[in-house]
Order: sequence, then structure tokens, then C-alpha cells
Amino acid sequence: MSIVRVPLEDRSYSIRIEPGLLGEAGRLIADLGIRGRVAVISDRTVSGLFAKTLIGALQTAGLEASLFTVPDGETSKSLSQAEKLYTELIRFGLSRDGLIVALGGGVVGDLAGFTAATLLRGIPFVQVPTTLLSQVDSSVGGKVGVNHSLGKNLIGCFHQPVLVIMDPLTLDTLPMRERWSGAAEMVKAALIRDAVFFERLERELEDWMVLEDAGRLSEALAACCRIKAEVVGRDERESGLRRILNFGHTVGHALESASGYGVFRHGEALVYGLAWALDLSRTFGLLGEAVFQRVDSVLRRFPLPPIPESVDAERIVEHFTRDKKNKSDGLHLVLLNDIGRPVIRPVRDFDFRESVGRLLNRQIINL
Ligand code: NAD
Ligand code: GLY
Repeated sequence: MSIVRVPLEDRSYSIRIEPGLLGEAGRLIADLGIRGRVAVISDRTVSGLFAKTLIGALQTAGLEASLFTVPDGETSKSLSQAEKLYTELIRFGLSRDGLIVALGGGVVGDLAGFTAATLLRGIPFVQVPTTLLSQVDSSVGGKVGVNHSLGKNLIGCFHQPVLVIMDPLTLDTLPMRERWSGAAEMVKAALIRDAVFFERLERELEDWMVLEDAGRLSEALAACCRIKAEVVGRDERESGLRRILNFGHTVGHALESASGYGVFRHGEALVYGLAWALDLSRTFGLLGEAVFQRVDSVLRRFPLPPIPESVDAERIVEHFTRDKKNKSDGLHLVLLNDIGRPVIRPVRDFDFRESVGRLLNRQIINL
């Protein structure tokens, strides 16, 4: 088993990664010393696949566990869905010595984590991520929240899980499109922190997508988790270093939002955002041509839907200016000096608009 530790003093926790670990989840959770009831929150698809195994494992370990399902998809990341859960969980008798378990992808993790953070002023929670994206990124680091009609993730807080249980075998049923979406966050992790992992990704990306070798995939998951754990451990609340985790996300989020959420998977929009950030890094003379071409050729391996004609630059800029990460001292964006060497730079409105124009005119990544 790989164990990655997230070092956060009294909020430290482990990420446990092993093929088949879902069946062990009851024992791992019982070892946390939970005395109250356990609420497993999942979506319809994931609960159909894995809830029986998880609930069975929890009950075998002597815990009183019940399942709460939400509809699949980004629209479940809403205050109204959180409110429905509050009602169901209060009726269930969930108390502060109980536990919420998030079983699913990033949508379930963000929503269940937000519910755990806010109900009864905070209930501990465990992440059991079942998408590649949630295993390499969203289940780690404690960012939880829901969307607002004016933008993604605008309502939320930091609430660290007490444990993350990752079973790479759960990815067997994950559609290929979702796997590639998760792979985008793997590319991001390598680009911001680990040139050696990037080399491995260049060699093994397609093997990971077909889940050829659960052992090698587990190592790749652990590599991503180590990157995130190290960054979060040094800057839990995004006062500085953690901003590098947003590499590519400024334009990625804007694209997701401006296209109406249904068009792109999170990781697909992120690939466009990464391509955009690389192009801007090169334009500013930060990134050499050879490195640019190397990264660009990895991004071109992703199967992506084209950017819809209906998305115009103004809509991206509009979303961008509303982005909660904007600071009153101007627009600061994460760019790249080299693989593994990010840099945070102020970017003028003019440069931002101009580069978004290039992205939408298919001059950056053309499909
Ligand atoms: P998702 O949670 O919507 O899951 C994608 C789809 O896959 C869903 O329909 C789900 O039912 C299905 N699914 C999940 N596991 C499956 C499995 N093993 N087999 C078959 N189907 C399965 O999407 P996602 O990409 O995991 O997460 C995206 C969300 O994560 C976004 O809302 C994004 O904002 C958020 N996010 C959060 C953070 C963070 O730090 N909190 C970081 C990155 C992304
Ligand atoms: N996904 C960005 C972060 O966790 O900070």
C-alpha cells in the first residue's frame, strides 16, 4: 500500500492507495475511532457501483451506516442540494461524533465535504474518490464547496478530510472521457512541481488511461498526491504557494462556465487552460520554445471537444474579472518558467484579452 501523509499539524491525515482497498474501508474507518453514525454520500451512478461494498464493509466493522444519494453531475454542487442533505442527515441523527463519507468523484467530494464542514458546525469526513480526477487532485487538500449561478466554487471553505481511501480498481468502470479529464490534472501537477514525473507521464500516459497495470497507476496516483500534499502542507489556505495548483484553471473555469457547464468535463477545459497559460508564458519570454513544444505535444494527445463558436472572448473576460482569485492589486496568474518551475505574474487586461483571442481563434490549440 502507498501511504502519503498530508502534514497539517492537528489536521494531518493519510492518503491510502491500494488496488482493492474499498473492501478494507470499514476497518480503516473504524480505526479512526468513530462512535456515532456514518452517512455515506454518493451520486446515483457511483452508489449503484460501489455503495453495497462500502456500506457492507462499514457494517462488518460494527458501524451504523446509511446511504444518501444525489443526482450525478455538476448541478448537484449547489446550496439547494446541500440543504436537502442537511434535512436528511439531521433526520438520520448524524452527530458530531459521527462521520460523513464522500463516495464518488469531485462533485460528490466537494458537496459532501461542504455539507460536513457546515452541518452542526463541522463533522469529520472521509474521502473515497472514484474518478481519476478526484484521486489525483480534488479529494486532497480540503477545498470544499458548491457553485453559484455567477460562477464555479464561489461558496465554500477549507475542511480537511480525516482520511482519504483510494482504490484504483474503482476506475475500471470509469468512462474513457472521464479518465482523460483526470489526466489533465496529472499534467498540471507534473508541470508545476515535478519534471521527473512529467518524463514518466510522457512515456506512460496512454497506459494509465487503459489501466494496464494497477501497480504502476497506483504509483502515478501517489506521485500526484505527494505533490498536492507537499503544496497544501506548506500553504493550506492559499496565501501564496498553493496558488500554483490553479495553473491553467483561470481560463479552464471561465471556459467551463462560459460554455454552460455541459460542454466540457473539468479536465478538458483545463487542457485548454494549460495550453493558454503555456502560450502566454512563451509570449512573455518566460518559457523557451523547446519546452513549449514538448508540453504542447503532450496536450495534443488529449481527445477534446472543440470550443463552441458561441463562446466569445468577452464572456471569458467577464468570468475572469469575477473570478474570486482576482486581487485588488491587479490580475496575478500562474505561468511557467520551465517544467516544475511555476511563476506568479501580474498580467495586464490587454495581454489577457489578446491571449484569450488567440485561444478562441484556434491559434493556440487547434482541433
Ligand atoms: P464527477 O464527480 O461529476 O464524476 C464524473 C462522472 O463519473 C459522474 O457522472 C459520476 O457519476 C461518474 N463516476 C464517478 N466514479 C465512477 C466510476 N468509478 N465508474 C463509473 N462512473 C463513475 O466529476 P469529477 O471530474 O470527478 O470532478 C469534477 C469536480 O471536481 C468539479 O466540480 C471540480 O470543480 C471539482 N474539483 C475540485 C477540486 C478541489 O480541490 N476540491 C479540484 C479539482 C476539481
Ligand atoms: N485544486 C486547487 C487546490 O486544491 O488548491
